[in-house]
Amino acid sequence: MPQQVKAVIARAKGAPVEVTTIVVPDPGPGEAVVRIQACGVCHTDLHYREGGINDEFPFLLGHEAAGIVESVGEGVTEVEPGDFVVLNWRAVCGQCRACKRGRPQYCFATHNAKQKMTLLDGTELSPALGIGAFAEKTLVAAGQCTKVDPAAEPAVAGLLGCGVMAGLGAAINTGNVGRGDSVAVIGCGGVGGAAVMGSRLAGASKVIAVDIDDRKLETARKLGATHTVNSRTTDAVEAIRELTGGNGADVVVEAVGRPETYKQAFYARDLAGTVVLVGVPTPEMTLELPLLDVFGRGGALKSSWYGDCLPSRDFPMLIDLYRQGRLDLGAFVTETIELDQVEQAFERMHHGDVLRSVVVL
Ligand code: APR
Ligand code: ZN
Ligand code: ZN
Repeated sequence: MPQQVKAVIARAKGAPVEVTTIVVPDPGPGEAVVRIQACGVCHTDLHYREGGINDEFPFLLGHEAAGIVESVGEGVTEVEPGDFVVLNWRAVCGQCRACKRGRPQYCFATHNAKQKMTLLDGTELSPALGIGAFAEKTLVAAGQCTKVDPAAEPAVAGLLGCGVMAGLGAAINTGNVGRGDSVAVIGCGGVGGAAVMGSRLAGASKVIAVDIDDRKLETARKLGATHTVNSRTTDAVEAIRELTGGNGADVVVEAVGRPETYKQAFYARDLAGTVVLVGVPTPEMTLELPLLDVFGRGGALKSSWYGDCLPSRDFPMLIDLYRQGRLDLGAFVTETIELDQVEQAFERMHHGDVLRSVVVL
C-alpha cells in the first residue's frame, strides 16, 4: 500500500520550502523504502529551491540522510528490512565503462528509484540528488542504501551521505594525502572542514586552514588544522608558502568554488603538487591562468565529485573510525532541528553560522 508521510518540498523557484504530505509507493524491483531518522541541510538543497539546478519543481529536498530500511522490492539482496543505512547518490551500475574498468567510484550511470513519489494530487516530485530525505520515509534504489554499524548516531552517520564525505574524500581519495604531506584547505565550511579532518586522519604533518571568517578558522583548529590563515587580511598564497619552507603545500584543497580561490590553490601548491577542486562553481565562472605555469609547475589539477567515494567501501570504514573515536564526525553537527525548521536552517547556513543543521525525525 502506498503510504502518506510528511515531507519538505520546494514548490516553486525562490518560494520558502513547506512541509506537506507526500505519497510514497511500495518499493518496486530493485527499490527500497527507508524510514528516515536524520537528514542534514546542504547547500545543494538551497540551490534546488532557488532553481539553480534545474526547473523540475516541485522538489522533495534533503539528501544527507540515515535511516532504517522498512521494505524492499523484488530482487533486492544487498539490504533487508531493519538494516541501518546511510543513503548515497552513487549507486553504481556495474555496467558502464568506468565500472567495467574497475573504477566504480566514477560510475557514469548511477541508479535512482524508478517509481516516483508524488503529492496527494498525483503531481510527481523530483527528489534532490535522487534521494529526497526531508521526509518521514523515502523511496530509493536499493543500491543507494549503504549498511553501516547501527550503533552510530543517525544525525552523524547521515552526514557521510554528501558534504562531509565530499570533503574527507577530496583529501584522502582525490588528493591522496599521505603521511608527512603538507596540506592547505581553502574554505573551511562543512566540506573544507571535513578535508581538514581527512588530511589529519591520513597523516598529514601540516594542515593549513584558510578562510575569510575567523569563526571557521577556530572550528578548523578543532577539526585538526595545525595552522590557520585569514585570507581577508593576509595573502593566502604567501602565507601558505611561508608555512611550508617557501615551497607551497603538497596538496591544496579548494572548497569554496570560485576562480580567485582556485588561483590561490594553484599558486599555493608546491612544484609537482596536487590541486583538488571540491567547491562547486556556478556556470558563469571562468578561469584564466598562464598556460606556461600550468605546464611548468607540473603535478595534478583534479576535481573531486562526492569525494570520489565508493559508498560501499568508504561509509562503513569511516563509521567504524568514528565509533572508535578516531574521527570526530560529531563535530559537524552544529544543531539538530525539526522538519519544519529547514527554511530557518537555510538562513543560518547563508550567514555562515553553522557547519551542519541536521533534521532529526
Ligand atoms: N576565501 C576563503 N574562504 C572563503 C571565501 C574566500 N574568498 N569565500 C567563502 N569562503 C569560506 C566561507 O567563509 C565558508 O567558511 O568558504 C566556506 C564555505 O563553506 P560553506 O558555506 O559552509 O559551504 P560548504 O558546505 O563547506 O561547501 C563548500 O563545496 O560542495 C561544495 O557546493 C559546495 O561550493 C560549495 C563548497
Ligand atoms: Zn557504472
Ligand atoms: Zn549535499
